[in-house]
Amino acid sequence: MDLHFSDTLPISRSEKEQRLNQRARAIWLTGLSGSGKSTLGLGLEKELFKHGFLVQILDGDLVRTGINSNLAFSVTDRLENIRRIAEVTKLFILSGIITIDCFISPTNEMRSLARNIIGTDDFFEVFLNSPLETCELRDPKGLYAKARAGKIRDFTGIDSPFEIPENPDLVLKSGEWTIDRTVEKALQFILPKIQMPSSFYN
Ligand code: ADX
Repeated sequence: MDLHFSDTLPISRSEKEQRLNQRARAIWLTGLSGSGKSTLGLGLEKELFKHGFLVQILDGDLVRTGINSNLAFSVTDRLENIRRIAEVTKLFILSGIITIDCFISPTNEMRSLARNIIGTDDFFEVFLNSPLETCELRDPKGLYAKARAGKIRDFTGIDSPFEIPENPDLVLKSGEWTIDRTVEKALQFILPKIQMPSSFYN
């Protein structure tokens, strides 16, 4: 075997992307709790994986039990949550891996922070535009009911703000559409961003 340990040049991101036959990008899903971020993330991951892409989902509910288990829901803690996740996302991208980030990220400041850390060329902001009433009606985790009853404080949309994204790269009406339609629309947007020129999707 011909080894060259004297070669100290790191393997570049672009070499890793070539190996994986994909362009690494961050798909940042923002929206209220219950707007469908995690469901869309899972649907997208499955669909993309089926077609040869390597994707990592980063999700608020998971991340907050691990790396961010010391953070709560004050604006300061949410900002720190997003800062850490953006840094982690950047590492995945350097490894050539596509990330799907599912975080409420309720303010323009938080989303700009993520965009600045990850880099504007690699960051796509996707707004899941589902009205508060729809999310509250769905209430998949029963959290809106608890927030209304005053059992949870600082709940987004109830007693903590959600600022409508000013310039999202894509808006999905996840409150009106079926999950299939939402995934389909997201895929149409994402595929051209992550495909290598030589690859194709069918
Ligand atoms: S973010 O605002 O910092 O981006 P993140 O997406 O990580 O929030 O976490 C949101 C998830 O935490 C929600 O989907 C919900 O399950 C849970 N959660 C618990 N308490 C709150 C709260 N006060 N506000 C919003 N979400 C909460």
